[in-house]
Amino acid sequence: MPESSRRQIFVTRELPGSALERLGQAHDVSVWPHRSPPTAAELLENVAGCDGLLTLLSDGIDEEVMQAAGAGLKVISNYAVGYNNIDLEAASRRGIRVGNTPDVLTDATADLAVTLLLGAARRVREASQEVSSGDWQTWEPAGLLGRELSGRTLGVIGMGRIGTAMAKRMVGGWNMKLLYTARSDRPKVDESLGGRRVELAELLRQSDFVSIHVALCDETRHLIDEAALAEMKSTAVLVNTARGEIIDQDALVRSLRDGGIFAAGLDVTTPEPLPPSHPLVKSPNALILPHIGSATDTARHEMAEIAVDNVLAGLNGQDLRCEVNL
Ligand code: DGY
Repeated sequence: MPESSRRQIFVTRELPGSALERLGQAHDVSVWPHRSPPTAAELLENVAGCDGLLTLLSDGIDEEVMQAAGAGLKVISNYAVGYNNIDLEAASRRGIRVGNTPDVLTDATADLAVTLLLGAARRVREASQEVSSGDWQTWEPAGLLGRELSGRTLGVIGMGRIGTAMAKRMVGGWNMKLLYTARSDRPKVDESLGGRRVELAELLRQSDFVSIHVALCDETRHLIDEAALAEMKSTAVLVNTARGEIIDQDALVRSLRDGGIFAAGLDVTTPEPLPPSHPLVKSPNALILPHIGSATDTARHEMAEIAVDNVLAGLNGQDLRCEVNL
């Protein structure tokens, strides 16, 4: 590419695979070299004069960052399907295109939701702890009893791509009955998976397993609060692979402690990382993972390819491969 058409891109972390090399052939790319995200001040400093940004879900991209980048900023490509870390309205106002990386992480994330559901239901954390701490004494008829899955009711909050993939696995694999919430009816889901769209309160009351698959926005922040948890069965398992802030964590700690629900499997928390001293980490019936829903080699490589395609298209003034503020 001729010198004159090379643009300045800041990438907030190294990515797996060779996609960034492709970006570097066309443009001047600077990659944040550390394992931890840039601080807010470091971000402001590094974006100055950039035409494109390739960001992670842990980077808060607000109007101040866009302002610091300057008038040349054309595209922000988020290496995630979620984009709650970006002020979309500010980007749209400034004519900045925003991209994300959907579809390629659907299977990986649905697989992890199943892993958490099974792990929390069968008390894998406590069982594994018993082995590693030396507390395993004998085979006990009533030791570490968990919840059976087959034929029970799964409630999926948010029947989008990942929610549907999760539901397929549970209905097909464990013959579960399916309830879901969604903005509109999903006739195909009803037909192929025997699903029924219901209000949230009914889903919470009737489900044995509840899995969260909505995006984080003002409407869904603390959707699962004290009152919602109180609607759930005391035998229920709650799974969250979406965003931590959808659950009121203090209320969840109390519910897990007081037998309000049986267990939780969480891939996302508030904050991330969750300090080891946090009461949720201390709750034996909370199985917590460090936000690894999309962490398979296939998904993360494909996400990098889409994120780079999005930057390249945005710099060329073309529609992004996956655009969120059309
Ligand atoms: C996303 O893409 O939004 C996930 O949370 C991480 O891959």
